[in-house]
Amino acid sequence: MCGIVGYIGSKPANHVIINGLKKLEYRGYDSVGVALVNEDKTEIEIFKDKGRILDLEIQIDKNIKSHFAIGHTRWATHGEPNKVNSHPHMSNSGRVVVVHNGVIENYNQIKKEKLKGYNFVSETDTEVVANLIELYSKIMPMDEAILAATAHLKGSYALLVLDKMDLNKLYFIKNKAPLLIGQKDDEIIIASDIVALVGYTDKYMYLEDMTFGIVMDDKIILKDFYGKELSSKMVQLQISCEEIEKGNYEHFMLKEINEQPTVIRKLIYNYTDNEKYEIDKNLIKEIKKADKLYIVACGSSLYAGYIAKYYFEKILNISIELCIASEAAYLLPKLSKKPFFIFISQSGETADCIKVLKNIKDKKIKTLAITNNIDSTMIRLSDYNLNLYAGKEIAVASTKAYLAQVTLMYILASSIAKTDIKCVKKKLNIVAMAIEDVLGNREYIRDISRKMIDSETVFYIGRGLDYYVSLEAALKLKEISYIHAEGYASGELKHGSIALVNEDVPVVAIITNKETELITRSNLIETTSRKAIGITIVLEEFANEEDDMVLSNVDGDLSPLVTSVVCQLLAYYVSLYKGNDIDKPKNLAKSVTVE
Ligand code: M6R
Repeated sequence: MCGIVGYIGSKPANHVIINGLKKLEYRGYDSVGVALVNEDKTEIEIFKDKGRILDLEIQIDKNIKSHFAIGHTRWATHGEPNKVNSHPHMSNSGRVVVVHNGVIENYNQIKKEKLKGYNFVSETDTEVVANLIELYSKIMPMDEAILAATAHLKGSYALLVLDKMDLNKLYFIKNKAPLLIGQKDDEIIIASDIVALVGYTDKYMYLEDMTFGIVMDDKIILKDFYGKELSSKMVQLQISCEEIEKGNYEHFMLKEINEQPTVIRKLIYNYTDNEKYEIDKNLIKEIKKADKLYIVACGSSLYAGYIAKYYFEKILNISIELCIASEAAYLLPKLSKKPFFIFISQSGETADCIKVLKNIKDKKIKTLAITNNIDSTMIRLSDYNLNLYAGKEIAVASTKAYLAQVTLMYILASSIAKTDIKCVKKKLNIVAMAIEDVLGNREYIRDISRKMIDSETVFYIGRGLDYYVSLEAALKLKEISYIHAEGYASGELKHGSIALVNEDVPVVAIITNKETELITRSNLIETTSRKAIGITIVLEEFANEEDDMVLSNVDGDLSPLVTSVVCQLLAYYVSLYKGNDIDKPKNLAKSVTVE
């Protein structure tokens, strides 16, 4: 949530910052701003506004020559998205200029107790930080002033700070919000996500919490919050430009949907070899020792958790409790004698999950983080980790990461159970081919999606695994098409919500289980008898002529990997017809780093 980027180097800084912000836009996109330091290093010019980067780009004065700048793309937390609340924010005298990612929880208290007499133009928590730093800078050097101000901050922050009285230095400070720094020769770039570094540096380091730093020319000084110098080690950047570009696709979401067969094959490649599973033996021992597993996640990752619960219970016969992270953060379920916690998160930065993870870590309970970001906070905090290998997911709506989560949980459960590896690989390869069939039929799915575009409500129904996919399908449709949708256990609809069904309501039935096929079909008929628009997604083995979308047969347990792709495409095409901004849906951000 919110993206920040800073640059010092030989290139025109506004280009680097604008380029970086475009790549970070998935983190928040309701307003944007940059601060350019002029070539003489005497002035700071700020350009900011509500809206997208492309709109701001044309407002930036091209005559300003700058090799040092900072920028910000915002997902509003404090104060509505407007020009005044956009970052960068300036202190009262104009000396301190900051951009911020995170939330300062006690900003009101600081305002009242420390900053009496200061004038605030915005509603943001960030302006408080700028003024607090200014307050201390009146009596001590800037580096000490920043640390003194930081001592009062409660919450999460990655901050870049400019001091108008010494524009040779870029200060930064990081706690509980991601920040990375990259360097190539005399160029230094600092940003919320590695994507902003691609094309500028080939080495980078992830900054730990409670790091304070100064960039000066080509030098980076790192300290902890007590002023002790920290050593730094850059690692090779392993992400290519193609990975973060749309290529020939109209949207990242469509590109990412299309990458899913490859994601499955990459997971097979990374977690198995010919004869054996390639998963940390100690992790497996630890899970086997547990008497109960707890899965913690949010959003799509939580829905992947539902399917993971099914796999673990079925394949390993161990009980699993699924926890909504934001609930478990304040009300932890009753713990078993030998619990083990699994955190599932695409970003590895989700604040709700991190809160629970820290709590569990304090209780000395062992943890596993499954993420798509090897530099993430959750990977650092957990005892064990597994990489999703999905490649950078840029569209806000999760597709390939969700699919990778489900696939990886299946491989993990199978490896613990020592299920015949050849059989597991074969089943997954069949799934990858079945997804390719779906992708090949996408124009057909586009036609089906027309039945949904004018609706105000859509139901997805199914039983067992099909119900779990329904939950994810409804979330996908809601977030990018803005149509109200619900995923329902098909037998549950008649217990109340069927009252909402009428001739304008599509009901999408997902049917992949022989045992429940007929009863789910009956539940669908209950709705079409009330004039609902029935749509069926069915495995070939029990399909009939009237079914809308017939899928190649796959192992029943793995059907979510195929049915979910159909639902992703349905959501995508509905949104395309509606002309929505598919990759950046309103009110959302990719990485939810606030509670
Ligand atoms: O990064 P995470 O997987 O922890 O994120 C969790 C949710 O915020 C995320 O899945 C969200 O629901 C997606 N936008 C769904 O498409």
